[in-house]
Amino acid sequence: MGRDVIIACDFASREQTLSFLDRFTEEKPFVKIGMELYYAEGPAIVREIKARGHKIFLDLKLHDIPNTVKKAMAVLSRLDVDICNLHCAGTVNMMRAALEGLTRADGTRPLLIGVTQLTSTDQESMERDLWIEKPIDEVILHYAENAKDAGLDGVVCSPLEAGKVHGRCGDKFLTVTPGVRFADGDVGDQKRVTTPEKAKELGSDYIVVGRPITAAEDPVAAYRRCVAEFVD
Ligand code: C5P
Repeated sequence: MGRDVIIACDFASREQTLSFLDRFTEEKPFVKIGMELYYAEGPAIVREIKARGHKIFLDLKLHDIPNTVKKAMAVLSRLDVDICNLHCAGTVNMMRAALEGLTRADGTRPLLIGVTQLTSTDQESMERDLWIEKPIDEVILHYAENAKDAGLDGVVCSPLEAGKVHGRCGDKFLTVTPGVRFADGDVGDQKRVTTPEKAKELGSDYIVVGRPITAAEDPVAAYRRCVAEFVD
């Protein structure tokens, strides 16, 4: 899969999600389904969106003992999603177990990417609450290296970190990057943002875009603008 725009479908229900996707009559965007929608509607919503022809990034951020994550990943793999994720903090053993669970009998599997440190965690809260006393940038790169060692395909990170992650883990190691805003758009609650064009320049492989598309007056036009800036 090459560079692509993933729409974060942060909706609370099937109805809202499908009526949003119904607007796209000419293209089938890559869609991110997060915890809110998955917990509200269950695996049926994944099957339904997949059946409509969309690729799916199932953003459930698993983090548990290796055996539990392995079994949960086997279930997600049967849903035939394209990308799954987990918390790198679960350790290298947990990441290896996740990959085992995800790999189907025929050897195929969805891509698996890791969350390093959430963007809601900063240096201060990491030291105070997690007792991790290293520079957060180093922690992020270390977790990315762990993910690579475990065999994962990439990490979620800011576009601003994509270059460093590629430098440490190689160009083929995927960077999936939220925090994207149009130059003339609302920043909202995101702190460190880049435009789709800048994300491309910085080497992001996938941008995850929510409100700049979902809350736009014309979501299809906003999606096309992202594609024009980031992919074309
Ligand atoms: O609406 P917006 O473009 O800010 O949405 C970004 C999406 O990416 C949301 O689904 C958010 O939960 C997700 N995300 C993020 N930062 C991370 C990881 C995920 O914004 N570090």
